Amino acid sequence: MVDMTVQIGSLKLNNPVIAASGTFGFEREIEQYMDLSKLGGISSKGLTIKPRSGNDAPRVAECPQGMLNSVGLQNPGIEYFIENELPHMLTYGCAVIANIAGHEFEEYGEMAKLLEDTAVDAIELNLSCPNVSGGCMAFGSDAYMIRSVVSSVKKVSSKPLWVKLTPNVTSISEMAIAAEEAGADAVSLINTLLGLVIDIDSRRPIMKNNTGGLSGPAVRPVAVRMVNEVYNAVSIPVIGMGGIMTGRDAAEMMIAGASAVQVGTANLVKPTACIDIIRELESWTANTGAAGVSEITGTIVKW
Ligand SMILES: Cc1cc2nc3c(=O)[nH]c(=O)nc-3n(C[C@H](O)[C@H](O)[C@H](O)COP(=O)(O)O)c2cc1C
Repeated sequence: MVDMTVQIGSLKLNNPVIAASGTFGFEREIEQYMDLSKLGGISSKGLTIKPRSGNDAPRVAECPQGMLNSVGLQNPGIEYFIENELPHMLTYGCAVIANIAGHEFEEYGEMAKLLEDTAVDAIELNLSCPNVSGGCMAFGSDAYMIRSVVSSVKKVSSKPLWVKLTPNVTSISEMAIAAEEAGADAVSLINTLLGLVIDIDSRRPIMKNNTGGLSGPAVRPVAVRMVNEVYNAVSIPVIGMGGIMTGRDAAEMMIAGASAVQVGTANLVKPTACIDIIRELESWTANTGAAGVSEITGTIVKW
């Protein structure tokens, strides 16, 4: 028997596999297919202060080894989530993480305050959104903005704070260090990579929003490299994601330095992907002779 529990700061997870934000709905769609108590955790769809209907379709496109999406944070708003979705999510028995996204600096703190009196286990700050008052540059692409947002949320929130990093930057470790110095309890990475797909006959972008975020197996080597770089740069736990489809992919991400992993696009291919990944990761770990899955983290062997 392998001990599958992992510790992310003060939060203990049943196992290291978390359903990634935006790929699991608010779980009601998925609960018919699996026992959600078997998951390590669930990160909610990205929540905003006001409800959003998202971008116009077409807003997803398949591409080799992955997909592009420009869903545009469609969600019912954080207050609706707290009243109507969260109570049900908390009955599942795995960790519930509220993923929040702001388009103005102040919105992150306002949402963190609303979550303070709830039983969410952690807050994940999605910093990939454009800062509307700050020239529409993504919050997560500037170390100064990361410091400001993270420290403002820390002032109003006692929840474990995970900072989700965008890969669309020159130095991901610089961004992770900024998050750690401002008080983040963990960093999660990667969000999607900015891409563009064009229909060559019409010469128009396939998606109405022109660009979209690339996810799935195509991004995995980039994600593994970034997780390893960040693991070597910070002391807080790293939660790795990007293209994990199997238990072996999860093991690779953990060897690179992840204490836990998130699974996104794989859920869209197969709703039970997370459960399969947990089972495969458990048997792979058992075969290594390790007593616990947490022993795998950061065991990359140098040439
Ligand atoms: C359809 C779709 C919607 C997403 N929505 C969100 C979101 O609301 N908030 C967020 O932080 N990440 C969102 N993501 C990014 C994923 O959580 C994850 O970081 C990314 O897809 C990489 O993991 P994967 O390759 O396993 O999908 C979304 C991804 C997809 C495919």
